[in-house]
Amino acid sequence: MQDQRAELEWREDRVPVSVRFDDPYFSLEDGLAETRHVFLAGNDLTARFVDGFHIAELGFGTGLNFLTAWAAWRAAGVPGRLQFTSFEAFPMDVSEMEKALAAFPEVAELAGHLIAAGGGSAEFMDATLTVIEGDARETLAAWDGKADAWFLDGFSPAKNPELWGADLMAEVARHTVPAGTAATYTAAGFVRRGLEEAGFAVTRVPGFGRKRHMTRAVLG
Ligand SMILES: C[S@@+](CC[C@H](N)C(=O)[O-])C[C@H]1O[C@@H](n2cnc3c(N)ncnc32)[C@H](O)[C@@H]1O
Repeated sequence: MQDQRAELEWREDRVPVSVRFDDPYFSLEDGLAETRHVFLAGNDLTARFVDGFHIAELGFGTGLNFLTAWAAWRAAGVPGRLQFTSFEAFPMDVSEMEKALAAFPEVAELAGHLIAAGGGSAEFMDATLTVIEGDARETLAAWDGKADAWFLDGFSPAKNPELWGADLMAEVARHTVPAGTAATYTAAGFVRRGLEEAGFAVTRVPGFGRKRHMTRAVLG
């Protein structure tokens, strides 16, 4: 899986769709609102932010989730730095990232910083972004960090099952602080069971848009 790039098609010349996984990178309706609902509210982030707060993510994609979390961090006005680590097997070219992010004027300024930094790991004024390239099933096991909150954002579990397996959920738990959290847009049974087996207390809550349910998890 070394050095593989994302292969994209564009829906309405606006939403990137993975050719490899046949799935869009974010909601066709409103990707930013979905990120806020699923990942920010799902992890109760704004109330929990403290200096050094560490978010980790499976699937960096366009960087939209990072930018949305970073914007929320700035809006919260917490002094210090946000840490954000994301695992990505098929990085996007920075020009494709730029095109995808152009749909979200609310994060345009931060997107400009990310693009200027080449679309990957960088030290920003108030945030550290680390993008770990490679298959998360290998790279997460080797990671020496622990996250306060996880964004589980693989493509749909039916199309990208390797990013949702029980072994990987066990690694997510192993890389989570006590009482840390995880959130995902899916409520697929095997994902919930994997999280439970890994030691998370799992709840099903209302999803975004047309999705009836999503999942929140708190490490016991
Ligand atoms: C739904 S997209 C993520 C969207 C992203 N969070 C954003 O803000 O744009 C899923 C991502 O998971 C990545 N992915 C799929 N399988 C993977 C694997 N085995 N290891 C690491 N990343 C993987 C894909 O390349 C894709 O970027």
